[in-house]
Amino acid sequence: MKKTSISPSTFLCPTPVALVTCRDKGGRPNIITIAWTGVICSDPPMLSISIRPSRYSHGIIRDTGEFAVNLPPVDIIRKVDLCGIISGKDVDKFAQTGLTAAEAEKISPPLIEECTICLECKLTEIIPLGVHDMFLGQIVATHVAEEALDERGGIRMEIANPLAYSPRPILQGFRRPARVVRVQPEEQ
Ligand SMILES: Cc1cc2nc3c(=O)[nH]c(=O)nc-3n(C[C@H](O)[C@H](O)[C@H](O)COP(=O)(O)O)c2cc1C
Repeated sequence: MKKTSISPSTFLCPTPVALVTCRDKGGRPNIITIAWTGVICSDPPMLSISIRPSRYSHGIIRDTGEFAVNLPPVDIIRKVDLCGIISGKDVDKFAQTGLTAAEAEKISPPLIEECTICLECKLTEIIPLGVHDMFLGQIVATHVAEEALDERGGIRMEIANPLAYSPRPILQGFRRPARVVRVQPEEQ
């Protein structure tokens, strides 16, 4: 393929879209939509999420050291979008979206009942990078919807039906089961 060199860009796509939950020290839960996330180590199992310091969730996770990464199925895309537009500083996103909080096993933040896969994480490090700070988390518990597990303990992707993020400002189908979607035309 003939290539054109463009300015250095974050065209590593698609990336997963996650609903990250946290809970402040007063006990109030919050949800933030995150696309800058990925697996960073297999053993111990670890992932990263990158959050701008201006987000309300940034200070909560920094101060409490706990968060959960919940993977939403395609059918709740509008709620995922909403959690990425409004701030928990102003509203209760569980009440606003109607998403259901479920108790986690090893951390205080709630899991999201409607998500197929939920990863409980303990913060190990925060790395300031630029406009985003990278939060490294060790996965301390993993929950998968029973109907999304196959008989060998693998994930049935057609049931999990996860969302993925693409830098193109369009809503488009991708090779099933993942979907490439741009839910809001805003910089992350
Ligand atoms: C699809 C999508 C992906 C997003 N990814 C990120 C991200 O990776 N990091 C980030 O800081 N903000 C991201 N955002 C923006 C935040 O979700 C948004 O600013 C949110 O309102 C912050 O909520 P909070 O103030 O309650 O923490 C994303 C938004 C959308 C819609």
